[in-house]
Amino acid sequence: MVFLTFPSYQAMSEAAADIFAETLRKKPDAVLGLATGSTPIGLYEELARRYAAGALDFSAATSYNLDEYIGLAGDHPQSYRYFMNQQLFSRVNIDLARTFVPSGLSDDFATDGRAYDAAIAAAGGIDLQLLGIGNNGHIGFNEPDAVFSKETHPITLTESTIQANARFFDTIDEVPRQAITMGMGTIMAAKKVLLVANGAGKAEIVRQAVSGPVTPRLPASILQFHPDVTVLFAEQ
Ligand code: PGA
Repeated sequence: MVFLTFPSYQAMSEAAADIFAETLRKKPDAVLGLATGSTPIGLYEELARRYAAGALDFSAATSYNLDEYIGLAGDHPQSYRYFMNQQLFSRVNIDLARTFVPSGLSDDFATDGRAYDAAIAAAGGIDLQLLGIGNNGHIGFNEPDAVFSKETHPITLTESTIQANARFFDTIDEVPRQAITMGMGTIMAAKKVLLVANGAGKAEIVRQAVSGPVTPRLPASILQFHPDVTVLFAEQ
């Protein structure tokens, strides 16, 4: 595991963009695993800026996002599909038809999850998987639990995640209580993992994830078993 600390969020975002640029340079048709939340916004800004400057080309790339709220359609402003369209997809030359976000509307999320994993495998697997980390150590929406879940699956959000994400909604009651998320098997199968974390508030959970016991009670800790993980931490 490579662990790098940066004095600023901007410096971390640029370093994360460097890793995306390197992946796309080596493999223009890379499969990118993408994440939402506040931490990747600076990275997506930087990718959009580099694309506008002619330094990046997403035309052959494919993307699969980690997760989506159950109950929100893709045109809902708080859905992760909407977030991705706004923050990245509409600002670079990725083919929208090759951007995938789990659907938040379904009557069979377990079947959808298996189909999502099968599609990722059929695309050749994820070359670079971006992750944030929740205050409770979740990655994607894999919440602390007694076991690690392997496949993309529906889950119930913990109170801590609902509270953390309430800042994006008008009221806490509007935060969906369930989500569909890539599972640990899906994430761990990525060839390279890039975890970004921002600010002193995340320092302790990141420390536990990278150097504490590997346990499903702190889902990100499983990354200690992945052969190619880079963690970028911004001190402020
Ligand atoms: P954040 O969320 O980037 O908004 O802190 C991270 C996460 O919950 O995965």
